[in-house]
Amino acid sequence: MAFHRAHGRLMVEGVPLSDIAEQFGTPAYVYSRAQLEANWKAYNTAFGTRAHRIHYAVKANGNLALLNLLKRLGSGFDIVSGGELARVLAAGATGADLVFSGVGKSRTELRDALLAGVGCINVESAPELNRLAGLAAELGIEAPVAFRINPDVDPGTHPYISTGLEQNKFGIPMREAPALYREAAALPFIRVKGIACHIGSQLTDLSPIADTVARVLALASEIEAMGIALEHLDLGGGLGIRYKDEQPPAHADYVRVLSAIPDRYEIHIEPGRSIVGDAGVLLTTVEYLKQTPARHFAICDAAMTELIRPALYEAWHGVELLEAPGESGVAATYDLVGPVCESADFLAHERELSLSAGARLALMNAGAYGFVMASNYNTRPRPPEILVDGGAVHQIRPRERMTDLFGMERPIP
Ligand code: LLP
Repeated sequence: MAFHRAHGRLMVEGVPLSDIAEQFGTPAYVYSRAQLEANWKAYNTAFGTRAHRIHYAVKANGNLALLNLLKRLGSGFDIVSGGELARVLAAGATGADLVFSGVGKSRTELRDALLAGVGCINVESAPELNRLAGLAAELGIEAPVAFRINPDVDPGTHPYISTGLEQNKFGIPMREAPALYREAAALPFIRVKGIACHIGSQLTDLSPIADTVARVLALASEIEAMGIALEHLDLGGGLGIRYKDEQPPAHADYVRVLSAIPDRYEIHIEPGRSIVGDAGVLLTTVEYLKQTPARHFAICDAAMTELIRPALYEAWHGVELLEAPGESGVAATYDLVGPVCESADFLAHERELSLSAGARLALMNAGAYGFVMASNYNTRPRPPEILVDGGAVHQIRPRERMTDLFGMERPIP
């Protein structure tokens, strides 16, 4: 494991995290190159010689340095905005490496995607198909298309990160899909490539994925019976990670479920969390210990602005001291909170820890949906991002400066 303890100190690869906290200050995000690469390779190895393509979901963590490392491994990228398109191109990807997902793509985004030559656009509605067909004809560029269907499968995860149920805004209802495929196949600048879906995130059970595969295969047969050829089936992202006591499926078992897909289709997946989640931590320092009649609070220098997952999904992240607590530590059951003026501003509830003011902590498994969801609320600069590679420490994004926060604002005359 890239994050481990040696002589009581929490390490990332060969480097004590307290050294990084000392050098760069806190809060700070720290990533492990070895863990990132091992996670990507675990999927790739599980597929073996089976034709497949891994499109890393950039939304989970879009730092250029991480994208560039994944590109070097041979990864493709799943993007959801014009911003992510520009980002992956800046990181060294080419259009063919990309699949463009998302329920509300603008004209500008679709045009830019066509001009970049993206490998596939996952279309989510009939109006989007019309818009895309119009732009493609205007530009004289053939648009490679899959429809993201909504298989109406309950992924058994948090409602905010479930996407494949009929009541969700995502995808095209199964029964409407064949007619859309027929329409698309007849359009001059549309080239049908495959079927896409994504039922949700942090999946810890393979049975909804198996159900989804079965439904997608049934639809594929129906479409091919109409004489429309399909090259790939995209099963989306979603494999969970272990935050607390979850038991996410092994890569090999996941790929075994996907292997119900006949060999003539290339299998595409779009993992995000399971590539970067356990490859990153958020470092924070305890500013104050505050005891009220009801609670022991550890007030930290990181907040919901750096890691919003606890506030937004009541997500649980492990908390680890960077160094053994020492004499001054006070053992209690703590609520870890930040300085932001919101009662939802917490990082962890009810943790048994021995803390003192100045103690440094790591919030574990914060590599996915951490920095990317950070905000400047309360005019707080976003933290630096540090990438460790063996014994080498690289700052891949500095802490934001005050001029980054309000330098673009203008008082009126
Ligand atoms: N593909 C599509 C179309 C998606 O919508 C997503 C995630 C993924 C792939 C990647 O899913 P993953 O492998 O990371 O589970 N902010 C939430 C998670 C939102 C996921 C949104 N879609 C969180 O912090 O838990």
